[in-house]
Amino acid sequence: FPQEKIRNFSIIAHIDHGKSTLADRILEFTGAVSSREMRDQYLDRLDLERERGITIKAQAVRLYYQAEDGEVYQFNLIDTPGHVDFTYEVSRALAACEGALLVVDASQGVEAQTLANVYLALENNLEIIPVINKIDLPQADVEKTKKEIEEVIGLSAEEAILVSAKLGIGIKEVLEAIVKKIPSPGGFREKPLRALVFDSWYDPYLGVVVLIKVVDGKIYPGQKIRFYSTGKVYEVTKVGVFAPEATSIDMLVAGEVGFIAASIKEVREAKIGDTITEAQAQVAPLPGFKEQKPVVFAGIFPVDSDDFEDLKEAIEKLWLNDPAFSYEMETSAALGFGFRCGFQGLLHMEIVQERLEREYNLNLISTSPSVKYKVRLKNGKELEVENPAKWPDPGLIEEVLEPYIRAEIYTPKEFLGQLINLCEEKRGIQKELKFLTPERCVLVYEISFSEVVLDFYDKLKSYSKGYASLDYQFIGYKPGDLVKMDILINKQPVDALSLIVHRDKAYYRGRELAAKLKEVIPRQLFEVIIQAAIGSKIIARERIAPLRKDVLAKCYGGDVTRKKKLLEKQKEGKKRLKAIGQIEIPQEAFLAILKI
Ligand code: GTP
Repeated sequence: FPQEKIRNFSIIAHIDHGKSTLADRILEFTGAVSSREMRDQYLDRLDLERERGITIKAQAVRLYYQAEDGEVYQFNLIDTPGHVDFTYEVSRALAACEGALLVVDASQGVEAQTLANVYLALENNLEIIPVINKIDLPQADVEKTKKEIEEVIGLSAEEAILVSAKLGIGIKEVLEAIVKKIPSPGGFREKPLRALVFDSWYDPYLGVVVLIKVVDGKIYPGQKIRFYSTGKVYEVTKVGVFAPEATSIDMLVAGEVGFIAASIKEVREAKIGDTITEAQAQVAPLPGFKEQKPVVFAGIFPVDSDDFEDLKEAIEKLWLNDPAFSYEMETSAALGFGFRCGFQGLLHMEIVQERLEREYNLNLISTSPSVKYKVRLKNGKELEVENPAKWPDPGLIEEVLEPYIRAEIYTPKEFLGQLINLCEEKRGIQKELKFLTPERCVLVYEISFSEVVLDFYDKLKSYSKGYASLDYQFIGYKPGDLVKMDILINKQPVDALSLIVHRDKAYYRGRELAAKLKEVIPRQLFEVIIQAAIGSKIIARERIAPLRKDVLAKCYGGDVTRKKKLLEKQKEGKKRLKAIGQIEIPQEAFLAILKI
């Protein structure tokens, strides 16, 4: 295919601004998917994505478009996720593009991730085409949105394309703009092969699938290739594109995007950001990506200890598909064998847990999430601790450092007061307050990340009726007065319920948590005492009175089916209970900390 007729682009947007819907319309308009085959959010392959309506994994689709100039163009559309937890996926995908459609919802305007994504696009030197979407909505304000694009982002909005992805308005204009404004890819077909790996995953039919952008040269079945970082050599078995279903082709050449398979056993052998070259050639590698480190950690345990091996296998498999989470084995006195996992954020954590449960049919308990602290000991050593169970003895600690972020919050001005309160409540330090337009402003705070991990995002959304948005970057570690709080149930400390808290808030948190646990732990046949303690000092206490009634008490006589039903129901309710000693503790108990 003539290189000058190739266009590689992404769609970037704040979450819910309509990126997937626009992608659907583009697929339809170019005939890649017939209306009959069309289903909403075609590119979101995982069931979970479709249900939650968010895009998790980036996908690359090849389309052909006959433009007004009569020529046929090859489009490679690379879909990207919009949530703050998935920035790493976005930046990778953008490295394979020359341009991006920037979708802005005309009823919402520019949001935190709009800007964050624009920065990523600019870092990758992409041509950005502003697209104002949802113009069909009565609340749509095109002029205001244009003004925000110009003033907040600094892009000219004069030629912004007005679109309703839902109704299919403006789609042709978008396609023409892609042809006219986005440059064709550079690179040389005659040169030795250099291809950038921008995603890889395990597919049950194809084995490890490697998504690549060929920068120079060509790649074809039978060719011997080498991964630069590992030095390992493989023979290419298959070359293809998603059109949108996986389709084999003869070769991929400079400028093109597609996938290869090469009898690669494990995804970790096809490292994202790596360069593929010919087996013998000596060429310089392409610039890779920054490695993404997990920032939120939690334990994941099977409810039924017999499922540990299944969980192990499931985690290993899922990791191949999502190397952005990390895991290592962990044992807990309370929960038995499980894994300590690291995630990009809370949403990422929820999604990993849900995928493990759904795709691998497991019943899991996750512990309260934690960030990674640095603990300086009196003996001069420094530890990294992300598991309260591994917190050193307080007598040995010289100083504790906690991670801080710079949070940018975009909000309509009427919620400003409440959001400032929220940030102050979370020990935030205000750095900036800027009005973008008379109605909208951006609040910049430095906040301890541990405060943000818990419930900050949910609160931000509820205080602002969903209108405020958040983006953040890590700015480093600062000293904090942190202590470990233990929860004792009938005098036994439950390691999996321990958490690290700020000393000023320990009493409040301890009391609230004990009260919450009282609510969620079912009554037992004996009395249950819940205590929160710092070291040997008890700071809160609650009592759960013993249970007298049993579930069958209600059915006198011998109605067997009814009895069975009740027992069945009781069993259902037990599914997510984990027996700790003699006490059954439900999943909610482990996440109770998120709710206080
Ligand atoms: P993520 O994939 O989660 O990042 O979201 P997204 O940006 O892909 O948004 P999506 O396409 O899922 O659209 C979000 C919501 O907006 C859906 O309910 C769409 O039906 C709706 N929507 C998208 N485009 C339009 C539009 O042009 N007009 C109207 N009225 N609604 C739209």
